[in-house]
Amino acid sequence: MSRQLKLGAFLMATGHHVAAWRHPDVPANAGLDFAHYKRLAQIAEAAKLDALFVADSVAAPTQDIASRMARSDHFEPLTLLSALSAVTAHIGLIATATTSYNEPYHVARKFASLDHLSGGRAGWNLVTSDNAAEALNFGRDEHIGHAERYSRAREFHQVVTGLWDSWEDDAFFRDKASGAYYDPSKLHVLDHVGEHFRVKGPLNVARSPQGQPVIVQAGSSETGRELAAQTAEVVFTAQTSLASAQAFYADLKARLPKYGRSADSLKIMPGVFVVVGRTEAEAREKCETFQQLVEPEVGVALLGRMLGNFDLSKYPLDGPLPELPLTESGQQSRQKLLTELAGRENLSLAELGRKIAGGRGHYSLVGTPEQIADRLQEWFEQGAADGFNVLVPHLPGGLEDFANGVVPELQRRGLFRTEYEGRTLRENLGLARPGNRFV
Ligand SMILES: Cc1cc2nc3c(=O)[nH]c(=O)nc-3n(C[C@H](O)[C@H](O)[C@H](O)COP(=O)(O)O)c2cc1C
Repeated sequence: MSRQLKLGAFLMATGHHVAAWRHPDVPANAGLDFAHYKRLAQIAEAAKLDALFVADSVAAPTQDIASRMARSDHFEPLTLLSALSAVTAHIGLIATATTSYNEPYHVARKFASLDHLSGGRAGWNLVTSDNAAEALNFGRDEHIGHAERYSRAREFHQVVTGLWDSWEDDAFFRDKASGAYYDPSKLHVLDHVGEHFRVKGPLNVARSPQGQPVIVQAGSSETGRELAAQTAEVVFTAQTSLASAQAFYADLKARLPKYGRSADSLKIMPGVFVVVGRTEAEAREKCETFQQLVEPEVGVALLGRMLGNFDLSKYPLDGPLPELPLTESGQQSRQKLLTELAGRENLSLAELGRKIAGGRGHYSLVGTPEQIADRLQEWFEQGAADGFNVLVPHLPGGLEDFANGVVPELQRRGLFRTEYEGRTLRENLGLARPGNRFV
């Protein structure tokens, strides 16, 4: 069968547009409404999407303007996806969990549990936290610096995956007749002692259906790319143009051989923000409905956060983007992308805030299913993407538009599945099941 693209549904409570919660078709309480998420999961699964993807931050926004944004109350991703595992059967469940404010044993255990609960559909989006405020909730005055976060993340990954191999696949035979519950020769104690962690093991969860949950990563700086090349199986990235996405794709795939990895062991899935209409005019009008709801101060607050946790409220709205130092606490890759965008299009602060109010700097497409499919096909066939993580302006409507319009168009072109190929997330993504390192 010819290569097909992979699609994730990046779920964000009311939708990705910062003003979506104010739209009449959007439930404003979506962040804590399980029935809402159940519906989203079922729409995505009926469309045969590969996975649900849930981002996270372990802090609520605290600026004054936060009271005008729908970002302060939402489900915790692992508990949400555990509940969704019970009302879905095929779709992958990718939760974000930070390596900066967690312990590896907790993370290994919870994702192994989710993999068992869901019959092999768990994925871990390994992030180092891009929200400086998180530090204050974990006994620190300041966020851990960029390089230090990645150093901790690398060792964190080693420990988590090591714990996942605590037991060989057939270690537990639970033989009632003989009274032997497991085979001690198939138990491996990790005994990790490193710079950041000391973890004895073993994990108190048997090896999970996928062997190991799928490792997803979303850092795109130099250090982030290197960690991804070494450890990730799916990479989520923000790219603004075909050329930049091609360069990122080529760069990351070229780093794989030195870790003994083949190009198809890592799927690169840029984010794409889509607004779908029956006609291009209708799509543009839909987009404008959301844009009209953006208060300039809200757009600029979102911009400040995406640039790497800067307070831009003291700068004039109609002035240029001020010169900012390289972010230590946030995403260096997104800071670069947004700074270049402001320069290229000569945008004022308020204009830039408005521009990213929906897609946050991700590649944005507004048009008919055919027009959107054309661009996705172009990126897929021209070495820019193995698939996409799809962001929609509002939920559930935007996801329905994508599922009912763009997915059938991709299927007609033979670019997307009409049935799930396998039972697990790995099987659907075309990723090998990892062997146990101790065997
Ligand atoms: C597309 C994308 C999505 C991300 N989502 C999250 C997230 O949900 N939570 C989080 O703490 N960090 C998130 N990050 C941040 C990173 O994963 C990363 O660990 C860190 O901020 C450094 O990014 P950098 O390597 O681009 O500088 C995301 C990054 C990217 C590029």
